[in-house]
Amino acid sequence: MLKNDLLLRTLRGEPTERTPVWMMRQAGRYLPEYMVLREKYGFFERCQTPELACEITLQPIDIVGVDAAILFSDILVVPQAMGLEVQLIESKGPVLPDPIKTHKDMSRVRVPDVHETLGYVMDAIKLIKQELNGRVPLIGFAGAPWTLLCYMVQGKGSKTFDEAKAFCYTQPELAHQLLQMITDTTIAYLKAQVKAGADTVQIFDSWGGLLSPHDFENLSLQYMRQIVAALKDEVPTIVFAKGAWHSLDSMAATGAHGLGIDWCIKPELARQFAGNNVTLQGNFDPAKLLSPIPVIQKEVKEMLRAFGPGRHIANLGHGILPNVPVDHARAFVDAVKEFRHS
Ligand code: CP3
Repeated sequence: MLKNDLLLRTLRGEPTERTPVWMMRQAGRYLPEYMVLREKYGFFERCQTPELACEITLQPIDIVGVDAAILFSDILVVPQAMGLEVQLIESKGPVLPDPIKTHKDMSRVRVPDVHETLGYVMDAIKLIKQELNGRVPLIGFAGAPWTLLCYMVQGKGSKTFDEAKAFCYTQPELAHQLLQMITDTTIAYLKAQVKAGADTVQIFDSWGGLLSPHDFENLSLQYMRQIVAALKDEVPTIVFAKGAWHSLDSMAATGAHGLGIDWCIKPELARQFAGNNVTLQGNFDPAKLLSPIPVIQKEVKEMLRAFGPGRHIANLGHGILPNVPVDHARAFVDAVKEFRHS
C-alpha cells in the first residue's frame, strides 16, 4: 500500500489535497551524494548493480522530498540490449561507436529477450519497491522509439540530429523497420518493469520537437501510440515529447494519462490543446532553478495558478541541470508542497 499516492491519483484525474511534485533527472549530478558514487563506479555499472541503482533512486526522496521516485537507469540501455555498443564519455555524453547507417548495419540489431538482457533493471525495481516501503510511487521509464533512433543512427548527441533525419528521409523503409523493432522491445521492457513493481511509466521523447507535426506523427507518435495502448490498462502512462506542443491533441487521444510539457508553452494554451481529459506535467524552466530562492518561490506559485487545480503534476520542463544548488531544488519542491489552490 502507498502512503503517498498523490501522483497516481492525479494521473487518474481524481481529486487530491495538493499538487504532486517530482523533477525529471532528479536522480543525478546536482546531488553530492550521487557524485560520491560516480567517483567509484562507471555509469553502466551504476545502472546494472541493483543496490547502486536503488541507492541513487532513493537519494532525491530522502534529500529533496519529492512525491515520486524515478528508477535510476538510462534510455540507452535499450539500444544496448538490442545489440549496439553504448559508451558514456565524460563531458561528451553518449557515444555509439558503430551507429546504424545502412541495410547491412541492421543485421546487428535484434529484438532481445528483455529478461535476459535487462533483467538487472527488473531486479533493481524489486529492490527499490522494497526499500521505498510504500513512501511514494515508483516511475518506470523508457525512451521513445524516435529519440532512441536518433542516438542509434547519429551515434552521439546533436542539436539537430540531422544524420538521423537523413536516414529516415532517404531510407524510410529501414527507418520504420528499426522504429518497429524498438517499439516491440520497449513494450516488452515496460511490461516487465510494471510486473516487477513500477507504479506508472513515462516515455521520454526528448527529440520529438525536432520534427514537423507531420513527421512527428509518422516517425514518433504512431509508435508511442502502440506503447501506450499496450500499457494503459495496466498502469497510468505519461508521454513527454519535448517541444511537440503542436500535437498535444493527438497525444491526448492515445489514451495516455499524463502529458509532459516544456516551458515554451503557456499552461493555459497546453490545456486548450490537450483537452480536459488528461493530466499535464511540467513546466518550470530548469534554468530558473538557478535564480534566487525567493524568485523560485514566486514563479512556482505563478505556474501552479496558471495550471489551475487538479490534473496537474508539478515538474520541470526538462531534466534538472547539474549546477543547480540542492537547496534551490528543495525550495522548488517545498514551494509546490506548501501551495493550496483557494
Ligand atoms: O530522471 C532520473 O533521475 C532517472 C534517471 C535517468 C537518467 N537518464 C540518468 C542519467 C533518466 C530518466 C534518463 C533519461 C535520458 N537519458 C534521456 C531522456 C530525458 C532527457 O533528459 O531528455 C536522454 C536523452 C538520455 C541520454 C543521456 N544519458 C544523455 C544525453 C546523457 C549525458 C548528458 C546528461 O544529461 O547527463 C546521459 C547520462 C545520464 N543519464 C546521467 C544520468 C544521471 C549522467 C551520468 C553522469 O555523468 O553521471
